[in-house]
Amino acid sequence: MKLYNFFEKTANLGDAKFSAPKKYKKQLEKIYFILDFLVINMYNIRMLHNIRILRIILNIRIFSNISIFIKRCTFLKIIAIANQKGGVSKTTTTQAAAEILNGKGKRTLLVDLDPQSNLSFAVGAKIENELTIYNVMRGEEKAENILQKTPSSDILPANILLSGADIEFTATGREYLLKEAISDIKQKYEYIIIDCPPSLSILTINSFTASDYILVPSLADVFSLQGMSQLNTTVQSVKRYCNQSLKIAGILLTKFTQRNIISQNIKETFDGITQQMNTKLFNTCIRNSIALQEAQLQQKSLLEYAANSNAMEDYINFVSELEEIINE
Ligand SMILES: Nc1ncnc2c1ncn2[C@@H]1O[C@H](COP(=O)(O)OP(=O)(O)OP(=O)(O)O)[C@@H](O)[C@H]1O
Ligand SMILES: [Mg+2]
Repeated sequence: MKLYNFFEKTANLGDAKFSAPKKYKKQLEKIYFILDFLVINMYNIRMLHNIRILRIILNIRIFSNISIFIKRCTFLKIIAIANQKGGVSKTTTTQAAAEILNGKGKRTLLVDLDPQSNLSFAVGAKIENELTIYNVMRGEEKAENILQKTPSSDILPANILLSGADIEFTATGREYLLKEAISDIKQKYEYIIIDCPPSLSILTINSFTASDYILVPSLADVFSLQGMSQLNTTVQSVKRYCNQSLKIAGILLTKFTQRNIISQNIKETFDGITQQMNTKLFNTCIRNSIALQEAQLQQKSLLEYAANSNAMEDYINFVSELEEIINE
């Protein structure tokens, strides 16, 4: 039995099982189960004295660990944060999610795809007379040359020049400009989060084409409800023509007031809409916190400046929910 104990200890060295994404964990556990079964049975019939067989089993186990490690390295998820309605916390959610993910040690990149460049401003990126995502989408620059590092996150910034995108980007393949623009640097990151403008324009369509998931922040009000079917129609059309694997990760209610009865009723209606959109309503709702606005005005990190606010507490819970959906 000593030999078996030794084998167990050696094989568990550098074990990737506990750090692998959920779906790979299950695969790895199956492989381990079969190998353990073999080892025990071979020990019983005294075959384990053959050192070559032991070495083969050990190699399979190490190989499966390495392959999981490689899969982890390529575990990039691109998330578009979109809603054609203005002022629903798209930019704030993008910034908060990136800060929280970076804080958890996940390499995260922000992409500002809104000509208003609110995200670039909030994280303190330079935008005046700077090269931006606009130049990369035009094919004039590489993404790595416009990348800026800020205390919140790495960012590909935007500026007002993007506002001409609908008129300017007219050539065939115009839906794929962003996907191509980030293709060179995307392997350096685990998460890329795109802040979309408040429209269903070519910029938003580019973000859907480049993404794995869409996250929809929304207010709990009737006008926001109205906009959902229009958003869903655009998503379905991008799925059909440009990006089959696109999914809606969920709808996140923001600036939420729990004591407000209308908000509670609308929350229930949203539950129904999410079923039609084949997605879910996040359990977490983001509460109102003035500290978020103050932090953005002063270009401070949300996690530092608004650390004790209700909204940041909610954002931390929301990011955990989001990670679960993505790791499923
Ligand atoms: N939970 C919150 N509590 C209080 N204020 C918030 C909250 N979330 C966002 N805000 C504020 O609401 C305003 C609009 O938010 P934000 O810019 O994130 O929305 P948006 O959807 O990106 O807007 P746009 O459609 O113009 O891009 C900002 O001033 C922001 O600071
Ligand atoms: Mg915005």
